[in-house]
Amino acid sequence: MAESVEVHSADGSFMNMLKYDGRYYVTHFVGNVKDHLAAIDVMDVREDDTFILSYPKSGTHWAFTLASMLRTGETAYRGSPTFLDYTDMQTIDNLPSPRVLATHLTFDFMPKQVKEGKGKVVAIFRNPKDVITSLRTFGKKMDHKDFQKVYKTTWEGLLEFYMDGRIFYGSWFEYIQNWDKVRREHKETNILYLTYEDMIPDLRSHVQKLAVFLEVTFGPEFLDTVTEKCTFRNMVTEATKAVAPSKQWKDMTSQKTLPIYRKGEVGDWKNFFTVSQNEQFDQVYKEKIETSSFSFRFE
Ligand code: A3P
Repeated sequence: MAESVEVHSADGSFMNMLKYDGRYYVTHFVGNVKDHLAAIDVMDVREDDTFILSYPKSGTHWAFTLASMLRTGETAYRGSPTFLDYTDMQTIDNLPSPRVLATHLTFDFMPKQVKEGKGKVVAIFRNPKDVITSLRTFGKKMDHKDFQKVYKTTWEGLLEFYMDGRIFYGSWFEYIQNWDKVRREHKETNILYLTYEDMIPDLRSHVQKLAVFLEVTFGPEFLDTVTEKCTFRNMVTEATKAVAPSKQWKDMTSQKTLPIYRKGEVGDWKNFFTVSQNEQFDQVYKEKIETSSFSFRFE
């Protein structure tokens, strides 16, 4: 079962996490990690289940909101998804259909039935420089004193953890390498691959693609409405109206709104990476991702 660990960077930044089987998890992962992973493995999947898979800060809430609207036919804003990672199996089993569940676990930790082709997986990816830039601010918004006891990093410290993989859900590079394997080996057609940078300039065509993938048969007007509701501007407005974020967020932040939305742009990393940090990053990126089937736009 998982052990509680604290990692430290050269400049004194630290993070408390759970470590199980060589991997790092956030401390609010269910139970001792091992048992919950086992429960996910044998989970009863429904034909109309949708799983949103992402590395943190890659557009999870965006994909969740789009998929929820298309699955239910309702365009009400739903805030944060139910995460497989942080929700006990009984609660998940009791959710009404259609379920749209999110997770930062990789595909190899999905329920057996999903690997056999049941349910749908929407995997969303984002360039790693904007991912860590987004995480930087997200960490700052988690200003509850209890969270500060388990997570305190400078930008340099965060980059160090991110680059060497001593971070929840592991290194982004390994995450992508893992997905490369899935792309090669998974023979079922129940995975849709989305890229954050492609969705920014052309959300409408992605709404269409998602609707086809989820096999929902709404007309173009509904798809237009979903597109409009899921622009960054509209999601920020809705999140601001939601005065009471779920308990998960209340426990971590003093903000009254969901601490997810920031800039919603491609290329903001340029405002944070120094020239030398960027060169080092590019070097590692080249080494680890050169042969990947994924490619990313950084601006
Ligand atoms: P930024 O911090 O760069 O703004 P996640 O949901 O995985 O935590 O990802 C959060 C990131 O997705 C944040 O990035 C957030 O602003 C961005 N995001 C959420 N909804 C979006 C939308 N409708 N359009 C563009 N970006 C969105």
